[in-house]
Amino acid sequence: MNIVILAAGQGKRMHSNLPKVLHPLAGKALVSHVIDTARSLSPRRLCLVYGHGGDVVRAALDAPDLAWALQEPQLGTGHAVQQALPLIADGGTTLVLYGDVPLIQADTLKRLLRAAENALAILTVELPDPQGYGRIVRDAGGRVVRIVEQKDANADERLIREINTGIMAMPTARLGEWLGRLSSNNAQNEYYLTDIVGMAVEEGLPVHTANPLHAWEVLGVNSKVQLAELERIAQSGYAEKLMEQGVRLADPARMDVRGSLECGRDVFIDVNCVFEGMVQLADAVEIGPNCVLKNARIGTGARIAAFTHIEDAVVGADGMIGPFARLRPGTELAEDVHVGNFVEIKKSTIAAHSKANHLAYIGDATIGSRVNVGAGTITCNYDGASKHRTIIEDDAFIGSDTQLVAPVTVGRGATVGAGTTLTKDAPADSLTISRARQSSIAGWKRPVKQKTSR
Ligand code: UD1
Ligand code: CA
Repeated sequence: MNIVILAAGQGKRMHSNLPKVLHPLAGKALVSHVIDTARSLSPRRLCLVYGHGGDVVRAALDAPDLAWALQEPQLGTGHAVQQALPLIADGGTTLVLYGDVPLIQADTLKRLLRAAENALAILTVELPDPQGYGRIVRDAGGRVVRIVEQKDANADERLIREINTGIMAMPTARLGEWLGRLSSNNAQNEYYLTDIVGMAVEEGLPVHTANPLHAWEVLGVNSKVQLAELERIAQSGYAEKLMEQGVRLADPARMDVRGSLECGRDVFIDVNCVFEGMVQLADAVEIGPNCVLKNARIGTGARIAAFTHIEDAVVGADGMIGPFARLRPGTELAEDVHVGNFVEIKKSTIAAHSKANHLAYIGDATIGSRVNVGAGTITCNYDGASKHRTIIEDDAFIGSDTQLVAPVTVGRGATVGAGTTLTKDAPADSLTISRARQSSIAGWKRPVKQKTSR
């Protein structure tokens, strides 16, 4: 079986410099949804027909299993499939998909492929308003005779409500000859792939139709409005799947998955959360409202409070993060670590039971267990040229408003006094402090503003 994905069309109505098929749906290019579904059917050859903005499309998607057929100029869907012919395997069935019809499901395509055994099979639907689509013309016995495009159809044919979705499967062996016989003598001066249906009928080859399991599977994207409609369909699909697996969603209409989200048992997700890339939430994780998690792993029982932003980071079991925390790439927190509001952590590991509860910047640091990082603590990791590491050993206590000028180490059990600027290592089990000694001047009078006479 071969699969040919048509993606050469321009997409003028998107009003964008980005080629249409690269517009993102649920965080992934439209055509990548089609490619992934196609791959799941294990075709012998997977060929993309590209044209407009071609190099950008190719560069964005290139993979060893994809064959690329350039269609330039674009003379119609039949002409498009013709460009793919030299790149596909002889024999078997060829399945044609559209790069701008992203939600087509593998189960529907399997049905279509079953209908295409020793036959040509068309995926069709009945629409209350078939305006613009190619119509399926049947004879008195209900057998498919041909497809007529809207612009070529007569008044009677325009009343037909069964339409061609554009997705079809046919015997590869006949395709070359059929495509060679296409003519552009029609209302659009194009080579219509749909004309091969009439040819198959003339040859006595059975023509079957199959229907998609869901009407939304065959919706195409031609505008930003349609893109947004399909985004909602895709998102409610993800939400439903998660709830069926036992995830509790505060509101299935207010969650966005732009990648893959894996959840354990008894997970709760509050409203307006965005999950990007690969996100794993272990059992009993709770995500508060308005959180963004990208490529993150959250351990069992951890609680991520409102407005927390996590990217390329790991939170251990029973962690308490946020509200308003930011975990940047390379952050690894062991179990029961608490990170509070306005704390930013980057490229740092923090061992079990440590806390940084308020207003801190921790970058390029290795922090041990049971460490307390006080409010306003800053690792001064950057000297303008290079980044340096800060090491804080187990059971250390970092007083509020401390600056740790890296590279620097705070020894096991050390205490650093509030307001310290630490430029040398703080020895274990000692108090280190670099604060000007406090003094008081008794009876000191504040200067008073002179009254000016006028
Ligand atoms: C096509 C079908 C029509 C069907 C409709 C469903 C034909 C002649 N008509 O019409 O029966 O109801 O789709 O949406 O096949 N493309 C290329 N190269 C081209 C032309 C198109 O790659 O030269 C690609 C487009 O990028 C798109 C797909 O083929 O993904 C369909 O093209 P489009 O122009 O939307 O076809 P329609 O005229 O709408
Ligand atoms: Ca179309």
